[in-house]
Amino acid sequence: MLVNAKEMLQKAAAGKYAVAAININNLEWTKAVLTTAEEQNSPVILGVTGGAAKYMGSFSTVAAMVKAMDKALNITVPVALHLDHGSYEQCQDCVEAGFTSIMFDGSHYPFEENVTKTKEMIALAHSKGMSIEAEVGAIGGEEDGVVGAGDIADPEECRIIAELGIDFLAAGIGNIHGQYPDNWLGLDFETLEKIFKVTKGLPLVLHGGTGIPEDMIKKAISLGVAKINVNTECQLSFAKATREYIEAGKDQDMKKKGFDPRKLLAPGYEAIKQTVKEKMELFGSVGKA
Ligand code: 13P
Repeated sequence: MLVNAKEMLQKAAAGKYAVAAININNLEWTKAVLTTAEEQNSPVILGVTGGAAKYMGSFSTVAAMVKAMDKALNITVPVALHLDHGSYEQCQDCVEAGFTSIMFDGSHYPFEENVTKTKEMIALAHSKGMSIEAEVGAIGGEEDGVVGAGDIADPEECRIIAELGIDFLAAGIGNIHGQYPDNWLGLDFETLEKIFKVTKGLPLVLHGGTGIPEDMIKKAISLGVAKINVNTECQLSFAKATREYIEAGKDQDMKKKGFDPRKLLAPGYEAIKQTVKEKMELFGSVGKA
């Protein structure tokens, strides 16, 4: 059942669990996430980056696929179709395409500009019944061996953005997209606590969910995180299972037609399902639909 993400995240914040926002890349990803959410009776968010939408054709292609699949598979749990790290233009495209939720990531703009543009996007999203996420600070990452700690969010800026009327907030607290390097400093819980206080119960978002130790995930949830984004981990599970299938020579089994894409991609599909199930269990969203 396609819905916006506001209510499911308010319920998660109040119930001290988090909803998994899983990035989708293609049909297999979408089906794996939807069926696992239904089996686990868990709400879920499908995250779509501009890059993934381009790969699949367009935001409209993604929306049409998700809507049709949601219906065809009789998905009854709440599912939000959400733009991940959207630009100003991509937010507008997703409104047109029929997404139910958007993230406007204005974190790279000077703060005043982030405020002005976020305000505009809030009005647009809410006029269409969509939920909206904004970002303060920045999510770090590793590029060519250079480790960026990310930009730790300023709680005062978080308060200002929260008061504009956003539905949930991504704040940089030392989290990083992709795998965490050995010298990672961990999440900045002191800042998270301050942000939670000044944003007065607004559901908080933790990006870079791949590779964060379980105890840190649980602590983050206890401090107000209600949405956790996971992308890389599903890609790694999919790649590993697919590699094992090919290395075992199964794609060359002519009798069983192991080269048929529905067979070739099946282990990877099952691996994504397993990863999503583990995340839902860890985040505490099982049975919360
Ligand atoms: P990971 O790829 O580190 O799981 O991060 C996903 C994410 O934050 C998407 O916005």
